[in-house]
Amino acid sequence: MRFRQWGGEVKKYLVINGSPRGESSKTLQVAKEFAFNLDCSEVEIINVSEKTINPCKGCHKCLYEKKEYCHQWDSTTDDDMKVLRRKYFESDTVIFSTPVYFFSIPGILKNFIDRLFSCSEPFMIKCKQRESVSSHPLRKSNLKNIFLIASCGFPEYEHFKPLIETFKWYAMVSNVNFLGYIACPASHLLSMDIFKDEKKNFLSLVRSMGKKIVETKAITENDNERLKLLYFAKRIGKFRRLANEYSLKKLNERDLGTNINIKSKLK
Ligand SMILES: Cc1cc2nc3c(=O)[nH]c(=O)nc-3n(C[C@H](O)[C@H](O)[C@H](O)COP(=O)(O)O)c2cc1C
Repeated sequence: MRFRQWGGEVKKYLVINGSPRGESSKTLQVAKEFAFNLDCSEVEIINVSEKTINPCKGCHKCLYEKKEYCHQWDSTTDDDMKVLRRKYFESDTVIFSTPVYFFSIPGILKNFIDRLFSCSEPFMIKCKQRESVSSHPLRKSNLKNIFLIASCGFPEYEHFKPLIETFKWYAMVSNVNFLGYIACPASHLLSMDIFKDEKKNFLSLVRSMGKKIVETKAITENDNERLKLLYFAKRIGKFRRLANEYSLKKLNERDLGTNINIKSKLK
């Protein structure tokens, strides 16, 4: 409960947790470590899974008619985007906390981002950070920085590539700084006793990175290399074997059995 609240006040750091698992999210566990050294009176965490965020219907009325207003949903009492949009654009730094879902983000987080469209102008201008690319300018925004914290189920870092590119691109067209990212592959490891040392070292470095972001405003590729080494770089095979043993056990418990051809591949 250290950072949670839901009211009118705007905080310097806004953590947007896009996991449908809300408070049980493993990514959020990492994000909370990262936020540990930020002044907690300046942080708000929002679980999008707890909010009503209807999907953008693509009507484009927000661009040409009543501005900064979603003509489909803003008049419904249960939609939370009106408040969320204000908090988002008035904060200084948004920390996106998200699992990888099919190389991208969960649909509920995508709905949130799509609904920010109503704060864009319809005009096309040259993107400030890359003139060869067009973008829509934002109407009113105090947002300066975006940071990404992501977790995924597979143990390799490659699975984060499309997601990191997405957020780098998103920061660029929004003309805000991309401060960097923290990636946590093989997230099940966080609840496996056998990897408790890796978990401890990983989370303690994540915590120190939160401090660094306040001091230097950047997490570099070198920092990420340190994280990778601390994590379980040399134990991927072991992780895969344990994860498969767990899955087989679960299936057998339910007497669902497993195809013999698959079993022979689980090494
Ligand atoms: C629908 C769905 C799609 C997923 N897609 C991927 C994927 O493409 N790559 C991957 O490594 N993990 C994938 N995962 C696993 C999650 O990324 C992983 O369990 C994550 O750590 C969950 O984070 P959370 O606890 O914060 O929700 C997927 C999980 C679900 C439910």
